[in-house]
Amino acid sequence: AKTQLHDFVIQTTPVKRLCKTHNIITVNGQYPGPTLEVNNGDTLIVKVTNKARYNATIHWHGIRQMRTGWADGPEFVTQCPIRPGGSYTYRFTIQGQEGTLWWHAHSSWLRATVYGALIIRPKQGDSYPFTKPKREIPILLGEWWNANPLDVVREATRTGKAPNLSDAYTINGQPGNLYSCSSRDTVRVPIDSGETNLLRVVNAALNQALFFTVANHKLTVVGADASYTKPFTTTVIMLGPGQTTDVLISGDQPPARYYAAARAYASASGVPFDNTTTRAILEYKSASCAVKNCALTKPVMPVLPAFNDTATVTRFSTSFRSLRNVEVPTVIDENLFFTIGVGLKQCPKHLNKTRRCQGPNGTRFTASMNNVSFVLPSKMSILQAFEKRVPGVFTTDFPANPPVKFDYTGNVSRSLWQPVLGTKGYRLKFGSRVQVVLQDTSIVSPENHPIHLHGYDFYIIAEGFGNFNSKTDTAKFNLVDPPLRNTVAVPVNGWAVIRFVADNPGAWLLHCHLDVHIGWGLAMLFLVDNGVGKFQSIEPPPADLPLC
Ligand code: C2O
Repeated sequence: AKTQLHDFVIQTTPVKRLCKTHNIITVNGQYPGPTLEVNNGDTLIVKVTNKARYNATIHWHGIRQMRTGWADGPEFVTQCPIRPGGSYTYRFTIQGQEGTLWWHAHSSWLRATVYGALIIRPKQGDSYPFTKPKREIPILLGEWWNANPLDVVREATRTGKAPNLSDAYTINGQPGNLYSCSSRDTVRVPIDSGETNLLRVVNAALNQALFFTVANHKLTVVGADASYTKPFTTTVIMLGPGQTTDVLISGDQPPARYYAAARAYASASGVPFDNTTTRAILEYKSASCAVKNCALTKPVMPVLPAFNDTATVTRFSTSFRSLRNVEVPTVIDENLFFTIGVGLKQCPKHLNKTRRCQGPNGTRFTASMNNVSFVLPSKMSILQAFEKRVPGVFTTDFPANPPVKFDYTGNVSRSLWQPVLGTKGYRLKFGSRVQVVLQDTSIVSPENHPIHLHGYDFYIIAEGFGNFNSKTDTAKFNLVDPPLRNTVAVPVNGWAVIRFVADNPGAWLLHCHLDVHIGWGLAMLFLVDNGVGKFQSIEPPPADLPLC
């Protein structure tokens, strides 16, 4: 195994998109940011220097961070922000993960432009469990705002309204030729005729689940969230924000040009969505192309599912199996039930006067898990407070198994319109075997929520629609070869059940990866105690850990 050193400089960079030049925040002047390529077993040392005007942190999305929770990155959870002018060095080792992950800022909405791919190849000498691809191409799906994304979220927080939608979806930072002034910069992806190619697809969008497809080609899924899956073939994939999917695509069509396209999967009823499609061009590389000049041919456009095609999403998400049989905990120590959803808060009169209640009918948007709306601390990071036993930063009374289970049907009592605010965590003993039922609710409207857990991968042992039934739905549990992931797209109007073993001490966020929902409070914390001895305990904090 190697040790890799990298320098990330967070800085302001002029970038031209949609007809105008904008000053955006980037890493090393690149948008999307640099791709990190490592092997399983390598150690990464990334020095992050903040030369921008905003607080920043970097999160290594999906990296397990075994005993290195200080390098996880969410601001005020495992560290305080890196202030403008400051720096912090993240150190961590890749342990047993292979495939595609990514990194992104974990500070307000900075990740709109601060993100990049993290590619983990097999250990040196090991091979892929599938045909070795001739080419590997990262495909980062994103969202672009003409306004400064930090201003967009600030305005939404001030008024209580839903934030403005983005102005474009992007592939590798480019909106593509369906958007104005974007034709010339449409991303071109070379693929080899007659060869196998690997697309490493990441949904880096802030607030949008996305379908992705390639005209005339089948996609063979071989991995997701840096775990291998049993190969299965599909024409379209769906990724919730935060999720990654590795697909093989074989160059078996007539050499020509084909569009790869992404468009919104908008599960929430009555929520405005932007039907605009982003696309890139797959260009065959072959001798015959050199003769007939494929670059001049008109690319073929794929058929995309309708924006609300939940049937396609379900068919896709229930096709995932781990490549091999796995050891899912069968005995459960912690059986938890979390409702997830967006709500509306009634406003006190004094807020109304300051026009800070411009949500529907004079309310403010909020979101919660088990009716607790999560609030980040500001004086000290949660992990520091947990390790040093400093009181007053968080509490451990998260209601992990509430007596009132509110359901998805929308028949929710008015009292649940006022979630409790708090920095509430739930404490887990080292090594405990945990099951969490994640239940979508419908106070405002039901929605597919991409729920992401830091510090762990978990098995998705079942998903379904309606209210989870603890008597009958257990029949659906897959304890043989369920997929191992770090983000689960909980079905709209439905539920998902996950299991993991709490073998990584630290403070770990569980949250919706729609950034708009994090700001509204759709998050909670797992506080995992140290076990016995050095290898079950978190390492000491690095000397340069940013403090508040
Ligand atoms: Cu990819 Cu807490 O985030």
